[in-house]
Amino acid sequence: MSELYDRLTEYSQSDIYPYHMPGHKRRLQGYPLAEICNIDITEIDGFDNLHHAEGILREIRQRASKLWKTDASFLLINGSTSGILAAISAAADKGSVILMARNCHRSAYNGIYINHIRARYLYPESVDDTNRFAGCITPDTVAEGIRECHEAGERVAAVLITSPTYEGIVSDVQAIAVCCHAHDIPLIVDEAHGAHLGFAKGYPDTAIHLGADLVIQSLHKTLPSMTQTAVLHLKGDRISGQRVERFLSIFQTSSPSYVLMSAMDLCMDILEKEGADRLERRLQDLDKFKHRVERLRHISCIFPDDPLKVLISAPSGHMTGKQIYDILLEKYHLQLEMAAGTYCLAMFSMMDDEEGYDRLAEALKEIERSLENQDLCQPHMVSTSGELPKPTESMPIHEAYDAPTVLIPLAQSIGRISGDFVMLYPPGIPFIVPGEEISADVVRYIRESTKRKLSLIGLTTGEDDFLIRVVDEQSE
Ligand SMILES: Cc1ncc(COP(=O)(O)O)c(C=O)c1O
Repeated sequence: MSELYDRLTEYSQSDIYPYHMPGHKRRLQGYPLAEICNIDITEIDGFDNLHHAEGILREIRQRASKLWKTDASFLLINGSTSGILAAISAAADKGSVILMARNCHRSAYNGIYINHIRARYLYPESVDDTNRFAGCITPDTVAEGIRECHEAGERVAAVLITSPTYEGIVSDVQAIAVCCHAHDIPLIVDEAHGAHLGFAKGYPDTAIHLGADLVIQSLHKTLPSMTQTAVLHLKGDRISGQRVERFLSIFQTSSPSYVLMSAMDLCMDILEKEGADRLERRLQDLDKFKHRVERLRHISCIFPDDPLKVLISAPSGHMTGKQIYDILLEKYHLQLEMAAGTYCLAMFSMMDDEEGYDRLAEALKEIERSLENQDLCQPHMVSTSGELPKPTESMPIHEAYDAPTVLIPLAQSIGRISGDFVMLYPPGIPFIVPGEEISADVVRYIRESTKRKLSLIGLTTGEDDFLIRVVDEQSE
């Protein structure tokens, strides 16, 4: 199972007195969390040190490396977020250029900001006319992006894409890797949503098998692991493993949780022994689910490349994504992952079972019946990450983020330079970043999102209007 967990349990039952951190001293008997705290220790003798792993933690790293067939794998206890920050910092020197998918997660933009990197964007294809969520990044888009940078005299330090996306769209990583490597450019793939890929037939392969140089995966998103656990995989020598390790020691806590690390060890054990079987059973559940919902007319299920994601919308315009999300929660007690303008997202993992698929199919059939005679609400289209506005950059992200800023009403913001990120959360994909000119498109996008009551970060509620942070004109 997990050797680390066994050793922690054994230790917790020994008579060794802890004159060390953590301060609960494994003496929470009678309190909630006592069981977890009993195995919550620090870097004491015999338990290795994540930032200089030579013993049991090195073995867990090697287990990950063998499981994913990598040259090196690193354990992340600060989520994929820490891996993305380390990957960008290791691949790109201060002030260099990164070619990145515009629908990257906020953590990638933070990596750009702290390293004073110039981001050049790759815009995803729009995959679905009705729902307009972001599609894949094509190899042609990458080739074109590289060509444009080279024509502008810019050396591309790395290409960074997200695959699968939050909505389960997978890019052709193999062809993109070939394209990047032809120019000796490393490819970083944010595979936070794809830790389960490559383990069973019927699923796309993982980017680490398809030529990517660095791949970051959240174990906690689709595998049986605890929140915050993730891994970073390295293949080849285009990016220095030593630099990755250096930046991980900067971005990760100096007190990594042994509870989380034993959860990762256990997760790998379950994956090794039951992964393929469980994942294949989810495909069978999905097939039955598809069959049950295929005749629905007012509710539509979209099945993206990643079979663990199901997107639900009402294409006839009866309901917005948020309305479907709310009714599924309030009436059917089904908590979805996210609601967007026209659709919402149900996320499965290898640990689901038939019940998860059955309850959702039944609820959707019932909602369909209730919609038969209703008026259309004709939701105006707005999506989380598709149809991204394409604002023009007036200043690099770090200059605008560090410049003096002021809050102004959204209605007066067109033409001003954004001083902050504005995004829907989840999924945390910004549609305007510091340094970009706020366009009418951006304001429309924000207004539609607020009208739909989607959860927006980066705006303040003012008396008569929302307030948006812009660079102070005196400093422009
Ligand atoms: C595409 C993507 N990348 C990275 C992250 C960050 O992952 P974590 O929560 O493991 O830090 C997220 C979080 O939702 C995400 O959606």
